[in-house]
Amino acid sequence: MSNNFSISASGLSKCYTIDRGLFHKNTQFLALNNISFTLLEGETLGVLGESGAGKSTLAKLLVGEEIASSGLLLIDNKDVTHLNIHKRLIEHRKIRMVYQDPYASLNPSLTIIELLDEPLKNITKLNKSERKSRIIEVLNLVGLKSEHGRRLPHMFSPGERQRIAIARALILDPICIVLDEPLSALDISVQSQIINLMLELQENLKLSFILISYNLPVLWHMCDKLMVLCRGQIVEYGPTISIIDNPQHPYTKDILTNSSHSQNNIQVTDASFCGCVYSDRCENALDICSTKQPEQSIIDEQIVYCHKFASINTEEDGLC
Ligand SMILES: Nc1ncnc2c1ncn2[C@@H]1O[C@H](COP(=O)(O)OP(=O)(O)O)[C@@H](O)[C@H]1O
Ligand SMILES: [Mg+2]
Repeated sequence: MSNNFSISASGLSKCYTIDRGLFHKNTQFLALNNISFTLLEGETLGVLGESGAGKSTLAKLLVGEEIASSGLLLIDNKDVTHLNIHKRLIEHRKIRMVYQDPYASLNPSLTIIELLDEPLKNITKLNKSERKSRIIEVLNLVGLKSEHGRRLPHMFSPGERQRIAIARALILDPICIVLDEPLSALDISVQSQIINLMLELQENLKLSFILISYNLPVLWHMCDKLMVLCRGQIVEYGPTISIIDNPQHPYTKDILTNSSHSQNNIQVTDASFCGCVYSDRCENALDICSTKQPEQSIIDEQIVYCHKFASINTEEDGLC
């Protein structure tokens, strides 16, 4: 694997305002707070966190559907953080998204050729016959035939529709694909076909992936690194196998053992809150946890944000 940078995020944050009505002050909350990571060519980063943790917000920042409130985003070494809408479309073509529900994400009235031609017409300068060859090439890449192109989305099975969604993500020749829970609407047997397809595409096209999923075996199988998000913040980050085998943060332990937590719709955190985002649910919370954000600690190869480790580090420093 080469060491070409695909994506680098540094301190990315996204703040939303909640309108509390005429007689109350609007409040601001951080859907994402201070997210940093790097992704190299051909790597896969998994993102794990319960509902409302900020996973889709991160995906939207990466594909340019939303603009970060602060921080820096580099795609292929180019700063794309605050581009105008036109330049954003051009630069973010390098990161494309595959959504959870392929049916909802495909316009039902357009044929597959029209769906795939739309981004080519809007963003590239290819002529009609070049666009046609590109569409046939991409249909073949995802295991479909050129004659499939004349059909409408409802004429396909869910697995084939997800292949079409992947084809649409590939059409502009991206370096990274963000997969937002791409398997959850599919049967188990179809899931493994789609995983194999993605791995084959990754190998052949040197793609990097960001995989948002709650499926631990899939995260284990596909992801080099894992980011665990709680209320918009990273609580643990590191090699997938180490985190799943040996989680350090209490939130990671909780979410790995209680899969029902994926459905929790947690309360958002006011932007002015400055403690640990897990402090109100943590059984081992210290006084400091509700008043100060934990610094990062490095435990083996994992980065963990928890006061418990900060205090251990300090005690060890004191002993030395
Ligand atoms: N456009 C928006 N305006 C206001 N709040 C939003 C918007 N988009 C997402 N949110 C809120 O941001 C938080 C994170 O949402 P999201 O990224 O969709 O979480 P996840 O994908 O992890 O379930 C949620 O509380 C959600 O309600
Ligand atoms: Mg989501």
